[in-house]
Amino acid sequence: MGVRINPSILSADFANLEAEIARIGDADLVHVDVMDNHFVPNLTLGLPVVERLQAVSALPLDVHLMIEDPDRWAPGYAETGAASVTFHVEAAADPVALARRLRAIGARAGIALKPGTDAAPYLDLLPEFDQVLVMTVEPGFGGQSFLAETMPKLRRVADAVAASGADVWLQVDGGISDSTIGVAAEHGADTFVAGSAVYGADDPGAAIAALRTAAEAARPAHRH
Ligand code: DX5
Ligand code: ZN
Repeated sequence: MGVRINPSILSADFANLEAEIARIGDADLVHVDVMDNHFVPNLTLGLPVVERLQAVSALPLDVHLMIEDPDRWAPGYAETGAASVTFHVEAAADPVALARRLRAIGARAGIALKPGTDAAPYLDLLPEFDQVLVMTVEPGFGGQSFLAETMPKLRRVADAVAASGADVWLQVDGGISDSTIGVAAEHGADTFVAGSAVYGADDPGAAIAALRTAAEAARPAHRH
């Protein structure tokens, strides 16, 4: 069964992003981490860069907004043509209204949950979203260690997605590697972000293939 591997260009060479995206041609989407130095302590890139990435990337973009006031800013990212725009529920005033705006523009609408954020308030709203991102590290930096304590929440969301029948991708982000991707897949993730595990490898294509094989082997057979 298919899984998605979305390398994060946070771990790529920021001076050569077009070439870095060309190195991951066998990935599914390119994960783009937008950080505003307010919602998280780090600062990365913003709308003008995402517009250029969208123009030069052969792969669809999976934009992860770690910013304050996504209600105001996220629609602009959808308007670039990004395939997927994910905002943090901790920062959004009205997640459902924002997701509807993103969908109306033509993007898949995603919500992200920090490790300490309870998923329960969102489980009845799953048909409003196309993706739920269960963060497996505190957002802000690449190269951190996977937080296994997020796995029960991941499974609760996976069970709710299955019960709802909605077509919601379940994404994990942070510390995903050959040694952690299996447990995330077992708990229901189908979409995997990997930064350092892909761009820190000598051969990013081989790293993507290994992650994909490990995830597919671990996916529960009863899920679809
Ligand atoms: C962290 C970002 C991640 C980051 C993951 O806040 O959202 O996408 O790039 O990096 P790794 O895979 O190195 O943990
Ligand atoms: Zn991310």
